[in-house]
Amino acid sequence: MRSLPAPNTRRFENFPSPQPSPQRGEGARPLQDKVALITGGNSGIGRAIADLFAAEGARVVIAARDEARGHETVEAIVKSGGQAIFVPCDVRQAEDCQKAVERTIEAFGQLHILVNNAGIVYRATVVNTTEEQWDDTMDTNVKGAYLMSKHAIPWMMRNGGGVIVNIASYYGLVGGKEAAAYCASKGAMVLLTKAMALDHAAQNIRVNCICPGSVDTPMLDQEMEELGGVEKLRPLFEAKHPLGRICSPAEVAQAALFLASDGSAFVTGSSLVIDGGLTAG
Ligand SMILES: NC(=O)c1ccc[n+]([C@@H]2O[C@H](COP(=O)([O-])OP(=O)(O)OC[C@H]3O[C@@H](n4cnc5c(N)ncnc54)[C@H](O)[C@@H]3O)[C@@H](O)[C@H]2O)c1
Repeated sequence: MRSLPAPNTRRFENFPSPQPSPQRGEGARPLQDKVALITGGNSGIGRAIADLFAAEGARVVIAARDEARGHETVEAIVKSGGQAIFVPCDVRQAEDCQKAVERTIEAFGQLHILVNNAGIVYRATVVNTTEEQWDDTMDTNVKGAYLMSKHAIPWMMRNGGGVIVNIASYYGLVGGKEAAAYCASKGAMVLLTKAMALDHAAQNIRVNCICPGSVDTPMLDQEMEELGGVEKLRPLFEAKHPLGRICSPAEVAQAALFLASDGSAFVTGSSLVIDGGLTAG
């Protein structure tokens, strides 16, 4: 029997061998001293991300429309020993997006992580979707991410890098019935993610998106109401995921934490699917 050639270790010579980093010693948190701006961070998935990022050491900026829920989120984070501020922001408005970034810099001096999470859904076919609903969906889900990124990226470049996490959807990967504008917007977000990842890799800015299946949030309740009622539809929504249940916002937050932290240092332009197997078949 012929012996196998010796492994070519030279290929790996330029790669550092894994060393415990000084920042990752005992007690250090993965987002220690980072500044994270989260749109729609006062509800559902965005709120779970804000809570987790703050617990993992980040200074958090909640940029959202509902002021009462925004302040309530900030109070809860501060009460738990974290740092957070609320900035009123409608992501459809260029001026609001610019102000949200400027307030972040005023408050914390830097911006390392942007989470484009704010989103809306209308459950309708193209025939039933009004022009107003179409524009609202595109302006919130796609233009909002463009505007926030446009203003955030120059600050990340000054820091020598940064991370953008876009919250897309499994409806950005496969089509779904009665969600025409939403599917179009989330498909756009998946490719916007890849385009931005290519444009800004040289500046050490990583851009990834998360594609969740159904997540237990007010948005999902609203969708089920529109489609026939929560009581009737919830068991069907649970059953359509091969893991037999709906995702929790905290599970999406864990994926966002991975993408925002150095643990994913070589990940950019990717779509992380968190859907209990929904799109595997
Ligand atoms: N819940 C799900 O099943 C599910 C699945 C896949 C993807 N998503 C995506 O996750 C993200 C978060 O949704 P969620 O389920 O937590 O819903 P949610 O309704 O609980 O939260 C959405 C947040 O976005 C905010 N928002 C909406 N329009 C805004 C605007 N113009 N400006 C600023 N903020 C605005 C809302 O006020 C709210 O805070 C969305 O992008 C959604 O499309 C949700």
